[in-house]
Amino acid sequence: MSLAPHVWPVTATVAGGRLFVGGCDVVALAEQFGTPLYLLDEATLRGAMRAYRQAFAAAYSGPVRVHYAGKALLNTALAQIVAQEELGLDVVSATELLVAQRAGVPMAHVHLHGNAKSDAELERAVAWRVGAIVVDNLDELARLRAITKHLAEPQGVLLRIAPAIEADTHAHIATGGETAKFGLPLAALEEAVAQTIAAPGLRWLGLHAHIGSQLFALDQVVATIEVLVAQAARLRAQFGVTPVELSPGGGLGVPYTADQPPTDIPRYAQVVSAALQVACTRHNLPLPRLTVEPGRSIVARAGVALYRVMGRKGRRWLHIDGGMADNIRPALYGARYSAVLANRADEPACDPVDIGGRYCESGDVLLREIALPPAQPGDLLAVATAGAYTLSMASNYNLVPRPALVLVGNGQARVIQRRETEEDVLARDVPLGGDNAGTTLWRD
Ligand SMILES: Cc1ncc(COP(=O)(O)O)c(C=O)c1O
Repeated sequence: MSLAPHVWPVTATVAGGRLFVGGCDVVALAEQFGTPLYLLDEATLRGAMRAYRQAFAAAYSGPVRVHYAGKALLNTALAQIVAQEELGLDVVSATELLVAQRAGVPMAHVHLHGNAKSDAELERAVAWRVGAIVVDNLDELARLRAITKHLAEPQGVLLRIAPAIEADTHAHIATGGETAKFGLPLAALEEAVAQTIAAPGLRWLGLHAHIGSQLFALDQVVATIEVLVAQAARLRAQFGVTPVELSPGGGLGVPYTADQPPTDIPRYAQVVSAALQVACTRHNLPLPRLTVEPGRSIVARAGVALYRVMGRKGRRWLHIDGGMADNIRPALYGARYSAVLANRADEPACDPVDIGGRYCESGDVLLREIALPPAQPGDLLAVATAGAYTLSMASNYNLVPRPALVLVGNGQARVIQRRETEEDVLARDVPLGGDNAGTTLWRD
C-alpha cells in the first residue's frame, strides 16, 4: 500500500513494512503507550501554522492575525506551540481560556467565542483582558454591558453576524445561514452596534462571521467578506464608526481521502485578502485588521489515530478497540477517513472491509469499504488526518477511558495528554451513602 501524501503527516514514511511518523516507529509507540493512541506530528503542526502566517503576511497589505481555533483540539502543550509560533487563540469556554493562560498565550491575542457564554465565562474573559469577546446575540450583549459597566478600560468586542450565506458543506457544520444558530441576524445588527458604542465598558472593534467548516469552494467565503464590508460601510454611514477589525472566521477544508484536493493555504490567503482589499476599496473603507481562525486545517493532518484490531466477523467486519467515543465524526456526519495497517504497511490491499468501533451503537462504524491487507487480531490500524474534532469531542461512552495524545518529532515521543484511568472516569461518580449504602431489593 502507498500513503496518499497529502492525507498523512509530512513526516509519514514506511520502512521495513512499518509506518513511521515524526521519526518514530508507530508500532513501537502503540506497544509503549497502549491503544487507542493519538499521535500529533510536530513538523506538520508547526508547518501549517507557519504557512498561514507567511501566506497572509504576503497576501494582505494591512495587519493580520492568525488565531488557532482551539475547538479543533486543545491542551496546554498545543497552546504553548500556538504561542511559540505567534498565533492567537480562539476559545469557547472558561476552561479553554484557562488553558490559554496556563500556556502563556498573551491575552490580547485571545478571543472568546460561543453562542451561550455564561456570566462566569464573560467575567473571566473581562477580568483577564482578552483581546475580544465575540458577541453572538443581543441577550449576551445585555449581560456583557452589565458586567463591564464599571470598567476603567473598555473591553474589546466583535459582533458576530449571520451573513445569510449557506456554505457548501455538511448541514451539521454549516453556520452562516440566515436562521443559523450562530450570530446576529443582519436585521439586529444596527441595534447591537448602537448598544455597543453607547456602553461605557465596551469598545466596538468590528464584525465577525464564520459560515462553516470543511470548505473547499471559496466563493461563499468571498461573499461573506463582501457582506462584512458592506455592513461595515452601512454602519459607518449610520453611526460614524469605522471597524478596526474584520474576521471571516475559519473553515478551510482538508482532504481525508486521496480523491480530495490538498489544502492550499497560500491560495486561501490570496482569495481572502484580495476579497477584503477589493471590497474595502469599493466602499472606501480603510483596510481593517484581518483576523482568520483556522482550526481543522492546522491540526487535522498532524494527527494519526492508532487502534488494535480485536477480531473479525466474516469477510466484512474488523472490530477495533476504539471508535465513536474518541472519534464521533463518522457517526455524526458520515465523515470518511484513510487508513493503513501500520505493522504491514507495504502489503497489498485486498477486498474492502468495514471497521466497527467497540461502542454499543450500530452506527459506530469508523471506516466503511476500506481496502486493507487481510487483517488479523493484533494488527495495528492507523487512521490518517485524525487531529481535528476527534479527541476534542471525545466522550466516556460505555465508561471507557479516553486515549492518550503523544507529540512526535525528530524520533522523540512526548505524552502531552495522558491516557485517562478508570479512577479518572469514576472520580465524579458518587455512590449512594447512609441508609441506602449496600442495600438490595433482590429477594432470591
Ligand atoms: C467561530 C469559529 N471560528 C473558527 C472555527 C474553525 O473552523 P475550522 O476548524 O473549520 O477551521 C469554527 C469552527 O466551527 C468556528 O465556529
